[in-house]
This record gives sequence, C-alpha cells and structure tokens, in this order.
Amino acid sequence: MSVFDDAQLKAMVPERHSVRKYSSGLNEEDRKKIGDAIAEINSETGLSFVLVAGDPAGIQKFGMKGHFGGATDYIVLAGKESGTLESDCGYWGERLVLYAQSIGLNTCWAAMVNKKEVLKHVPDGMKYGLTVVIGHGAESGEDHKSKLAEKVSNLSADSPQWFKDGVEAAMKAPTAMNKQNFFFELKESGKVLAKPSGGMFSEIDTGIAKVDFELGAGKSNFSWA
Ligand SMILES: Cc1cc2nc3c(=O)[nH]c(=O)nc-3n(C[C@H](O)[C@H](O)[C@H](O)COP(=O)(O)O)c2cc1C
Repeated sequence: MSVFDDAQLKAMVPERHSVRKYSSGLNEEDRKKIGDAIAEINSETGLSFVLVAGDPAGIQKFGMKGHFGGATDYIVLAGKESGTLESDCGYWGERLVLYAQSIGLNTCWAAMVNKKEVLKHVPDGMKYGLTVVIGHGAESGEDHKSKLAEKVSNLSADSPQWFKDGVEAAMKAPTAMNKQNFFFELKESGKVLAKPSGGMFSEIDTGIAKVDFELGAGKSNFSWA
C-alpha cells in the first residue's frame, strides 16, 4: 500500500511553507516514515533520492551555521541523467515534501548548499538534482506573495472550476526565489500543458507546481497535454 494519500497531500498545500529554522532533527520514527516514502518513490520511478540524517555539513553553508539553523537532516534528490531529471525531481520531491508536512515535519527546498558535501551522498552513476532540508521547524513559515493567476495560466471567466482550483493550488507551490516560473495552459482539447517559463530552476519549479495543480484540480478531471 502506498504511503502517499492524495487527499492528505492536498490538505497540506496551504499548510506547507519554507522553514529555515529548526528546533530538532528527525527522530527514529520520522526517519522510518521518510525512508519508506523515499523507497516507494525510488522503486516506482527509478529516481535515487537519499535521506542524509545526522550529517548536516551539506546544509551548513561553508561551515557556517545559520542558513538552515538547527537543521541536521536533508534529502538529496538525484537520478539517472535524462532530459526530464529536473522536472522529475521537482514532481516527486514535492510529493515527498507534502507527505513530510502531513506527518508534522517542515521542509525547505535548497539550491544554496555546500555542494561538495552534498555530492558525497549522490549514489554512483546518478546525477544530482536538488536538496530538500527537513526537520521539526522552530516556526511554521508563512504564505508567500504570488503573481496573479492570469500571469501563470490562461485562466479566464469561462474556465472550468477544476482549472481554477488547480491554478490556485499551483500558486501556493514553492519555487526558486518565489519566481513562479511556470505557466498552465488549458488547451482547446481540454488537456493541460504545464510549461516552464524560463529562468533558473524553471524546469524543477514546473515539476513541483504540477503536483499542487493536480491535487487542486483533481486528477480525474483532466489529463496532461
Ligand atoms: C528549486 C528551489 C530552490 C530553492 N532554493 C532555496 C535556497 O537555496 N535557500 C532558501 O532559503 N530557500 C530556497 N528555496 C525556497 C524558496 O525561496 C521558497 O519556496 C519561495 O520563496 C516560496 O516560499 P514558500 O516555500 O514558503 O511558499 C528554493 C525553492 C525551490 C523550489
């Protein structure tokens, strides 16, 4: 049975915020749950996500504490080199992030890490995608500012409710520097095209936002173009 429950993940979309201060790392039970979730993703997708617990050198920028204060654990998102590795890391990483939120953990996607340390944990033959810091937050974060729905989609007065709900959920997704570099286009065919709109991390951002869109819109209401 899957550890991922879409109704539970959907409820976490408005709850999840980036957290950069932590009071404690993962306990044994957390490690087991996150480990099981990672094992499920890896076996389903062929990705190679790795939980790095109790070895915070990779998330302490150049040895300085404070960037992700109090954090001791992180997840390395990695996989075989492919044209879709970034968007796959975004998509499956976001499902993991929302699952973590559902079991009382906090997270922050992190491009700025001590890469030399982080790369030590990438399995042989795999390519590094990104890092997600994880732990018990000392705070719960806050809502981010968002672009207008019309800037990140072709939403109009005639759009079906599920499309509106999907776009609204996608606007709550984490994106690099909160740039929201994605665009959701409802095609005449009724299918939805998710397009990176350019810029650094746009592919990974779009992969992430697709999860939130799917949960908001309801997978049974549409298919991807
Ligand atoms: C690809 C990616 C890279 C990110 N890198 C960093 C980072 O290096 N440091 C950091 O503090 N936050 C990082 N973030 C978190 C974003 O700043 C955050 O998601 C955005 O400001 C929206 O805020 P929210 O996550 O609280 O909704 C990153 C997010 C993404 C998706």
